[in-house]
Amino acid sequence: MKIGVLGSGTVGETLANGFLKFGHSVMRGSRSKEKLSDWLEKNKQNAHIGNFEETANFGEIIVVAVKGLEALNALSLCGEKNLSKKIIIDVTNPISNNPPVNGVVNFFTEMNSSLMEQMQKKYPEVNFVKAFSSVGAPMMVQPKLSIKPTMFICGNSEPAKITVMEILEQFGWESEDCGTVEAARAIEPLCMLWCISGFRDNDWTHAFKMLR
Ligand SMILES: NC(=O)c1ccc[n+]([C@@H]2O[C@H](COP(=O)([O-])OP(=O)(O)OC[C@H]3O[C@@H](n4cnc5c(N)ncnc54)[C@H](OP(=O)(O)O)[C@@H]3O)[C@@H](O)[C@H]2O)c1
Repeated sequence: MKIGVLGSGTVGETLANGFLKFGHSVMRGSRSKEKLSDWLEKNKQNAHIGNFEETANFGEIIVVAVKGLEALNALSLCGEKNLSKKIIIDVTNPISNNPPVNGVVNFFTEMNSSLMEQMQKKYPEVNFVKAFSSVGAPMMVQPKLSIKPTMFICGNSEPAKITVMEILEQFGWESEDCGTVEAARAIEPLCMLWCISGFRDNDWTHAFKMLR
């Protein structure tokens, strides 16, 4: 498929490389696409770069991997017609500019709300699926762990979630579907929990597993 990855950061690069590895055609987007020219040079085949609007237009599936505080701004740069009816994999977390407190990152959202709900409210025609938000970038594609980890996902569209679950399976994950967009209130804070052992003990190589 054609995947548009909005994000010049480490998550954008990791997921873009994952999609390339599994044979997809990928465009990465940035407000300044020249910052992605090294990546383009390294991945000539099936790799493209563009601004946010070009990237959203290119993608049959879009990945939003931008700074949480600027996620709505980044989507507005895409142009509504380039987003409407598409699947958007939302990797963002609502991390504020305040520093972590004893290893606990600061969010700009409150407990009974979430960043993905803000996006879904602004773009009701988009099929947002929260995924990949509760693990560090180096673990997102084929993580090397003793057992298969669980990715917690949510979104209002069942077909969109099925597509994202297939991608997660390919990337080495089992999925736990937590329901509709409101479940992002529980999924986004998993990032806080995931980061604690990193900030406290410099341990960044772990993931969550649902046991029954
Ligand atoms: N790092 C991780 O391991 C990890 C793991 C899970 C989830 N996440 C989440 O994934 C997202 C991406 O994380 P990251 O570490 O790869 O990168 P990041 O530094 O959080 O974000 C970089 C991206 O944000 C965009 N951006 C910054 N300011 C902007 C603005 N004013 N308007 C529009 N776009 C703007 C940048 O656009 P330009 O290219 O135009 O500069 C760039 O593409 C974040 O929401 C993060 O919380 C990160």
